[in-house]
Amino acid sequence: MNLVLLGPPGGGKGTQAKRLQDRYGLIQLSTGDMLRAAVASGSEVGKKAKAVMDAGQLVSDDIVIAIIDERLDQPDTLNGVIFDGFPRTVAQAEALDEMLVRKKRKLDFAIEIRVPDAPIVERITGRFTCGKCGAGYHDKFQRPKADGVCDSCGSTEFVRRADDNAETVNKRLAAYHEQTAPLLPYYDKQGVYKLVDGTQDISAVTRSLEALLDPVRGQ
Ligand code: AP5
Ligand code: MG
Ligand code: ZN
Repeated sequence: MNLVLLGPPGGGKGTQAKRLQDRYGLIQLSTGDMLRAAVASGSEVGKKAKAVMDAGQLVSDDIVIAIIDERLDQPDTLNGVIFDGFPRTVAQAEALDEMLVRKKRKLDFAIEIRVPDAPIVERITGRFTCGKCGAGYHDKFQRPKADGVCDSCGSTEFVRRADDNAETVNKRLAAYHEQTAPLLPYYDKQGVYKLVDGTQDISAVTRSLEALLDPVRGQ
């Protein structure tokens, strides 16, 4: 099963992708995470991407398409993947369609996790992740069970993203509405579009996704 998760910055794509990956044995492919790893490693791609990401704009289509094309050649993706934050433009969606045909795979669903702009700034400015295992948290909505200690790995080191500030969030939202929202009708036309209400609490969003996917996976 191959899924695309669509939704605004801070909409819960990463949070839900991690849960779906465990339940259905899929691999989360977050182009945002891959680009941040490239920035941290100081690679050529990372050098090109850093300023664009910090400004809340989209990295060029060529770069992210190449990253995904290469990643899909790893055998661990054969069971199915969750595209998190990719595609983000019509050109990327067309490239993904072409890639999937070439690699003899298909897209099952493109699921919009719909959240209006209003709650987004609070979600993004409260976000932090474990510096060791990447588990995601929120100051208000998803605190670790013990303050300052990661639930998953016990680490006490947490990180916040450079682009998670109120000013950049508005630019990321604008990029979403202008460049990514056209993918909703794009996938609707293909017959794979589904909608989930992303304003519910985190577990309720997960249940909505499972209600959609369990019948397909026969769980
Ligand atoms: P990326 O890393 O993809 O960022 P994004 O799309 O802005 O999405 P986020 O990761 O911010 O949000 P999310 O939906 O994953 O939310 P999360 O689950 O963490 O991209 C970063 C940058 O990289 C882009 O700006 C661009 O420059 C570049 N880039 C990446 N992909 C690209 C591409 N394909 N093309 C071009 N450029 C690309 O949740 C957020 C917070 O809210 C968390 O703290 C969480 O705990 C909390 N939360 C989640 N769900 C709920 C809920 N239901 N209720 C309350 N709180 C919740
Ligand atoms: Mg994310
Ligand atoms: Zn951890």
